[in-house]
Amino acid sequence: SAFEGVRNSIGGVGKVLLAYNTNIDAIRYLKGEDLEERIEAAGRDKVLPYSEELPKRIESVPQLLGSILWSVRRGKAAELFVESCSVRFYMRRWGWDELRMGGQVGIMANLLGGVYGVPVIAHVPQLSRLQAGLFKDGPIYVPKAGNEGIKLVHPKEFEAGEENCIHYIYEFPRGFSVLDFEAPRENRFIGAADDYNPNLVIRPEFEENFGEIAQKAELAIISGLQSLTEENYREPFETIKAHLDLLEERGIPAHLEFAFTPDETVRKEILGILGKFWSVGLNEVELASIMEVMGEKAIAEKLLAHDPVDPIAVTEAMLKLAEKTGVRRIHFHTYGYYLTLTDYRGEFVRDALLFAALAAAAKAKLGDVRNIDDVVKAMDVPINEKARGVEGALTKEYSMKDGIAEVNSYQLSFIPTKIVAKPKSTVGIGDTISSSAFVGEFALR
Ligand code: GLC
Repeated sequence: SAFEGVRNSIGGVGKVLLAYNTNIDAIRYLKGEDLEERIEAAGRDKVLPYSEELPKRIESVPQLLGSILWSVRRGKAAELFVESCSVRFYMRRWGWDELRMGGQVGIMANLLGGVYGVPVIAHVPQLSRLQAGLFKDGPIYVPKAGNEGIKLVHPKEFEAGEENCIHYIYEFPRGFSVLDFEAPRENRFIGAADDYNPNLVIRPEFEENFGEIAQKAELAIISGLQSLTEENYREPFETIKAHLDLLEERGIPAHLEFAFTPDETVRKEILGILGKFWSVGLNEVELASIMEVMGEKAIAEKLLAHDPVDPIAVTEAMLKLAEKTGVRRIHFHTYGYYLTLTDYRGEFVRDALLFAALAAAAKAKLGDVRNIDDVVKAMDVPINEKARGVEGALTKEYSMKDGIAEVNSYQLSFIPTKIVAKPKSTVGIGDTISSSAFVGEFALR
């Protein structure tokens, strides 16, 4: 019924502004033997150190292969900027199995606009023909500057032959084995062979006309800050702050899709502007990384110590984050369950999470959600059994009932999620969850 509720009302949500990162994902499903041969060819001794500690960026083939191993050994996602032309060429020749829409903005645009029919305005730093072709049909728009100001057109009608921004996604399943290592979980490593998104390049026509563009929106989802570094964050941050102030002034709720931010300086800066957002979405690795820059080392460790993640530690961390920054909604997602802390009340918060879990199951199962019927078909995906313990702990600690509890002056909403045994791929699932839950909430309000 949560699904029916959102399905019936989601068409009524106004335009959603999506900024800033869009790219092309070239997905390679890793083969153990192939990877092993490549590691031997590059020199095992040169590769292995990077599987212990990630480099800052990728400048050589051993760094690339070592970073992929880093992800495999831990079953954790990572993403690094690939600077060197020769490594870019190496990845290109290694090839891909599939080309897909990438970047938070691109993925959410296709889901919200292409599947749910919610109109979106998307920021696409470079619109190549290949990039444009990856957009689904539907109410998806990019601003185009003309003589009479800004016009909204579908990306396919933008007709710009700009550059391809390609991210190479190396996906592996749970149990994937290479050398003496075995992946404890499915996940991916991303090599970003792209000069635009890692620098958070904002199109001039977007920046110059932001006021007019924002006027057309009712909600906003912001992403792409995660790939900034100490060296390049200053300029884009000034623009982003100005954009957020304008959105706040106009009363447009903005969600930040946090994503893994390896640079500590940038993480601190994001923490500093979090109060300008209505909402933030993150997982345990991301929440732990924020606790670390807040000086909460003990909680950070607790968040990463248990499987499933300890929900009491999550709640404590979310409370600290909400109290420190004033952000109104924190949506936490992990393997097996979601928790949301809001400074407002209502069953719609939990119901939007249920809708998101269904969309995520469809995405995991199929790789791409083609239409709303794909989401319906995910109904038969089983619910995570391990989440019972999580539910028990929350019931005991906070007297939770039907997935809802009062904690301090906040509402805590919980749902167990569906678990797809063998996901087709992992990339984009987080974006599917966050955008479905955020927009779903406004559909149900
Ligand atoms: C990041 C990556 C992009 C990927 C997306 C998925 O934005 O850069 O390649 O599609 O995450 O969440």
